[in-house]
Amino acid sequence: MLDTISIEKQVREQLSTINTESDLNALRIKYLGKAGAVSELLKGIKDIEPSGKKAYGEMVNALKNNVEAMIEKKTAELASAKITALLENAKMIDLTIPSQGEMGSLHPITVTTQKIVEIFKSMGFVFEQSNEVETEFNNFEAVNVPKNHPARDMQDTFYLSNGQVLSTHTSSSQNRVMKKYGAPLKAVFPGRCFRNEELDASHENTFFQLEGMVMDKNISIANLVYFMRQMLQSVFQKDLQVRLRPGFFPFVEPGFELDCSCIYCEGKGCKVCKQSGWIELCPCGMIHPAVLEMGGVNPNEYQGFAFGLGLSRLAMMMYNIDDIRVMNSGNLKQLKQIKIK
Ligand code: DAH
Repeated sequence: MLDTISIEKQVREQLSTINTESDLNALRIKYLGKAGAVSELLKGIKDIEPSGKKAYGEMVNALKNNVEAMIEKKTAELASAKITALLENAKMIDLTIPSQGEMGSLHPITVTTQKIVEIFKSMGFVFEQSNEVETEFNNFEAVNVPKNHPARDMQDTFYLSNGQVLSTHTSSSQNRVMKKYGAPLKAVFPGRCFRNEELDASHENTFFQLEGMVMDKNISIANLVYFMRQMLQSVFQKDLQVRLRPGFFPFVEPGFELDCSCIYCEGKGCKVCKQSGWIELCPCGMIHPAVLEMGGVNPNEYQGFAFGLGLSRLAMMMYNIDDIRVMNSGNLKQLKQIKIK
């Protein structure tokens, strides 16, 4: 008589000593494989008397199902034991425990951007993000720098195979912002800019600017000077003077370099301002009528000013960083020395 009970008992005993997947696999082959014990029993049905075939078949099938079920159960047990072991060995992090070591901090560029944007928002400016990848048109033509214009030389950039470019300045968003809001408008749009540069302590291939535009009826250079001075005074929390010097940028006419009185020596002359008492901070100017027109704004009705604040430069001033390359370096040793206020 076929003793399926003792085969099941055998399997159960062997399973209880198995701890690895490979041992379990060996056992599966031993009983359920092509030449395995259970399979052999199934094959043996041919030698059984016809009258007993049905009962025999049922018994072997039940045995097969039971062995399969036991092996399946063990497979699940091994899998869950594996996960438990992994979890036990892994260092568990409890996010609710207050930090006992160093806290991370925002990057100086992020803090500077947030501060400045807040100041402009309080002055009623709308905020947009300048695009990092732009059409060649927006980056150059729309700001009055046609193909083959010598000004393109100073802003060599990376041209993508789809004809777009990495933005060389935040001015590249002027056209998009003008078309989105129309005039009158007060807007700032910070962003990451890229240029093919020789790198040194004050030049990086990746840097940050904040572009501003103000357009309305009867806007003059006096408004430009007022806004810039207010903004710089809020940033540095100091009474500051500003002055304009002529500067050329194809998208403004007239164009200026805006200097502010040196924040370190208050205009007396020091190493940072090279004894001049002034720090060059922000190119700006009255928006060129052609730029207004390309942005869908009627230059006979509206005027405006624009500026391109060097955020990386400003962050360096705010946090006493003397090498721009520190900003993108990801060098924690250096970044940690910057005291974020
Ligand atoms: N886009 C210029 C640059 O990156 C900076 C600039 C100059 C922006 C004058 C302006 C501006 O809006 O009026 O060199």
